[in-house]
Amino acid sequence: MKRSHHCNTLTKSNVGERVRLIGWIQSIRDHGGLIFIDLRDREGITQIVFDPKNDDYATLLPTLKDESVIEILGIVRARPNDTTNPNIGTGEIEIVADSIKIHNIAETLPFPLEDHKADKVNEDLRLTYRYLDLRRPKNLHTLCLRHRISHTVRNYLDQQDFIEVELPYLFKTTPEGAREFLVPSRQNPGSFYALSQSPQQYKQMLMVAGVERYYSLARCFRDEDLRADRQQEFTQIDLEMSFIDREDIYALIEGMMKVVFKETLKRDIGTPFVRMSFQEVMNRFGSDKPDTRFALELVDLSPIFEHSEFKVFRDCLRKGGSIRAINGKGLADLTQGELKNLEDIAKTLGAKGLAFIKSENGEWKSPILKFLSEQEKEALHSTLSIRDGDIVFFAASDWLHACTILGRIRLEVAHLLVNRGRLSIPKDQFNFLWVIDFPLISFDEEQGRYLSTHHPFTAPVEEDMEKLKTDPQNVKAQHYDIVLNGYEIGGGSIRIHNTELQSLVMRDLLKLDEKTIQDRFGYMLRAFKYGAPPHGGIAVGLDRLAAIICGVDSIRDVIAFPKTQKGQDLMAQSPSYASEKQLRELHIATIIPHGK
Ligand code: AMO
Ligand code: AMP
Repeated sequence: MKRSHHCNTLTKSNVGERVRLIGWIQSIRDHGGLIFIDLRDREGITQIVFDPKNDDYATLLPTLKDESVIEILGIVRARPNDTTNPNIGTGEIEIVADSIKIHNIAETLPFPLEDHKADKVNEDLRLTYRYLDLRRPKNLHTLCLRHRISHTVRNYLDQQDFIEVELPYLFKTTPEGAREFLVPSRQNPGSFYALSQSPQQYKQMLMVAGVERYYSLARCFRDEDLRADRQQEFTQIDLEMSFIDREDIYALIEGMMKVVFKETLKRDIGTPFVRMSFQEVMNRFGSDKPDTRFALELVDLSPIFEHSEFKVFRDCLRKGGSIRAINGKGLADLTQGELKNLEDIAKTLGAKGLAFIKSENGEWKSPILKFLSEQEKEALHSTLSIRDGDIVFFAASDWLHACTILGRIRLEVAHLLVNRGRLSIPKDQFNFLWVIDFPLISFDEEQGRYLSTHHPFTAPVEEDMEKLKTDPQNVKAQHYDIVLNGYEIGGGSIRIHNTELQSLVMRDLLKLDEKTIQDRFGYMLRAFKYGAPPHGGIAVGLDRLAAIICGVDSIRDVIAFPKTQKGQDLMAQSPSYASEKQLRELHIATIIPHGK
């Protein structure tokens, strides 16, 4: 059964050879006297010709359907000149089959596999039959490209003296991070593992252990709401190094991106990458992961409205807030529906409204115009370079909130401009960016308290050590995120490697009580007492990186078997119910099994 060639290898130089090919039937065409089959495997397509006068074929061929698996033996011959197909590598030859074996006859498919049709098929149906969806050459190509990325990364890190160490997936619960998946322990009734959110703590222990340079392609599990760039199970290129500072991490990752883009897309990526502080990206783009392929930058208008008659703006400034705006260049022709949608988006982010001014036919129109003085209008005109056809949106709130609202509006405006053909955001342009100087702790609205911006193991910058006790909100962290075209593709930090500082951060900044600290992190604090090297690291989200390299919009497209928005695998039908017996063994028999 061993095939002699892949379906993309035969050329004119093989004419006259007897070959054996195995693959899927891409299409069957009956041309009266002759029957043609395009046979496909992972590598490509070869045309097979059958003579229906042969008795075997006459009985076999009518039973065949597209996507059946067949094996053929035959002789390679050159196609007549007028029938060559320059679109495929094997387009100058065909195989005249003299024997056929049928391995599996396919039933009628639940959806067509040609890209132009399959792309329009409901995603749930495609995920239910994911093995068929993946069979499409472009999806197989995506898997190959992802493999090429991980292979390149492994080689690169090996050359940089990293060693790959597998770390446990069954870890313990750390509620400080994302919501976790809990796994009941049969052997320890009432106790639970948590599936690892990331190998963060273990990789730090490897540094204490003297490993110096660790990496792994680590599966991470987070019980988050799923989005286009988020899955509950995803993969990190996770690494940690001892005796380094931030510059070493930047250089290492820039080098990695250089080889990855060269190997996969044959692209030369310019280094070093641009660096911007958290403050700067929020001010200019309203996001800590800005897409810098287009401008549409935010503008600070606070000085203009200091003495404004407009109560909303004046009150905001009096409370120490900020007035910011963005000029949606050329978007004054927004429909009522589009405008309402933008307002709704601002409101879901907690905005009280989304004031706007549009300039149409030489005239400004706005519900807030009557509140503005001539002087303010003049200042707006020059600060925002308002031209006819523009629409300006305003946000008045505290600094971070105002920036965040307009950051989101900026993306919507860009989207609307792209749809109108007035802005182009090139998919093959790669704007890498390091975002640095994050605050060590940030206020979490949901929990109503300060949490680590990155994680509790992140070290403060040296210059701010003094402020840890006096002014912790203004302490900056040795934390860096790497951003590509509007996606956070990685993040990491230089870590704390000393028990006193680590306890101080947990106790005084994060306000964790002593028992919680000991229960959750006691072993780390102990480990740091036995010779902990200075260390730091980063994790790059492989799925997000692969999605950008493959030019797809969702990480689901670069994951072999992704979960739906509801966290389900529609093909295998998971999650599924456990039996009473299983639940009893796990000491969770009190959960009523399904159907009882
Ligand atoms: P962090 O939580 O920032 O850091 O994760 C690092 C990177 O992983 C990717 N990522 C995700 N990708 C897909 N789906 C998700 N649900 C998801 N969550 C995160 C992102 C992100 O930048 N241990 C630290 C790293 C470190 O400090 O070394 C960590 O996990 O691309
Ligand atoms: P009001 O006087 O509350 O009716 O608001 C006048 C206009 O300002 C409306 O278009 C509101 O949507 C808008 N607006 C109100 N509050 C804010 C705010 N905090 N930021 C931006 N626009 C606002």
